[in-house]
Amino acid sequence: MPDASARLPVGVLSLNPAVDITYEIPRLIADQKVHALNSRYDPGGNGINVGRGLKRLGVQACTFCVVAGEIGRFLRHQLDAQLDQVSYLEVEGETRINGTIIESITGAQFEVSGLGPTVSTDAWQHLLDRFVTHCGEGLAVITGSLQQSLPRDLYAEAVRRVREAGGRAIVDSHNDLLRNAIDARPFLIKPNRYELETLVGQSLTDERAIVRQARQLQERGVTWVCVSMGAEGALLVTESLVLRGEAPSVPVTSTVGAGDSMVAGMTGLLAQGASAEDALREGIACSAATVMQPGTELFERATVARLRGEVRVTQL
Ligand SMILES: Nc1ncnc2c1ncn2[C@@H]1O[C@H](COP(=O)(O)OP(=O)(O)OP(=O)(O)O)[C@@H](O)[C@H]1O
Ligand SMILES: [Mg+2]
Repeated sequence: MPDASARLPVGVLSLNPAVDITYEIPRLIADQKVHALNSRYDPGGNGINVGRGLKRLGVQACTFCVVAGEIGRFLRHQLDAQLDQVSYLEVEGETRINGTIIESITGAQFEVSGLGPTVSTDAWQHLLDRFVTHCGEGLAVITGSLQQSLPRDLYAEAVRRVREAGGRAIVDSHNDLLRNAIDARPFLIKPNRYELETLVGQSLTDERAIVRQARQLQERGVTWVCVSMGAEGALLVTESLVLRGEAPSVPVTSTVGAGDSMVAGMTGLLAQGASAEDALREGIACSAATVMQPGTELFERATVARLRGEVRVTQL
């Protein structure tokens, strides 16, 4: 096992966190009020999920989080209990609320993503300063979407600054945010297969095609490329290795948070200086354990410990 005392600093950027409201109802009917069978409030947003996953794994990390207004106050209250360390930036406006409706009769799920507050250039630059300083020569997780009002090359700037400070950026995003971030040469990206297809503009039907595209991304300056493939597991292409990790067969309850759990698992092990193979195994074990959980709930640590031994990693 890696040496837990030799941990690198870990930071997670969360510029657009949310309060997630989930209602379970029998069925949605137009123009009729329906009473919830269940409702719950959870902190949401990809960065928040990665931070929660790291805490659950016992990995020290600081999450850099924008909050606004009364909803922001409520979010802070939730996060103080669920994250290890948080560095807040208060802005004007209101933190967004995301709504999910689950129909118990049909199993259908409806999701609405709310609008986040406006964040001024000075404000996000300030948060970025703190983030880069904290991460130092460690790991910097940059994940999720951004408010439309923020520049589309903000993640690229974050990656560049992390790299210049001697750290390693781990990026899990999509579309132009991912494309721009790649130009800034992150250490690791984790697109799912669809995100990679969108990025390269072609469908990738077999592993060889995926590996070929990963190699091309490496030529553009990405050090490691991890492509997640849902129930099929993931491929990790490093400087010298092509690894395939097969996901264990688990009962699927909700796949929400699978990608974030994978990022948390890999980041946690890399912070301890683990090998690519062990990091991939951990990412797959964490994400498989998360799909067994309902709603937005993340993995249980005991399940991760059990699944770790069931993840087969082979070198291609
Ligand atoms: N049905 C499943 N059984 C086992 N493991 C799964 C299943 N679905 C997903 N996983 C695990 O979760 C990882 C990430 O899943 P996926 O490729 O769907 O990522 P993603 O689309 O980024 O997820 P998200 O929607 O959370 O962002 C997979 O590589 C796998 O390890
Ligand atoms: Mg994802």
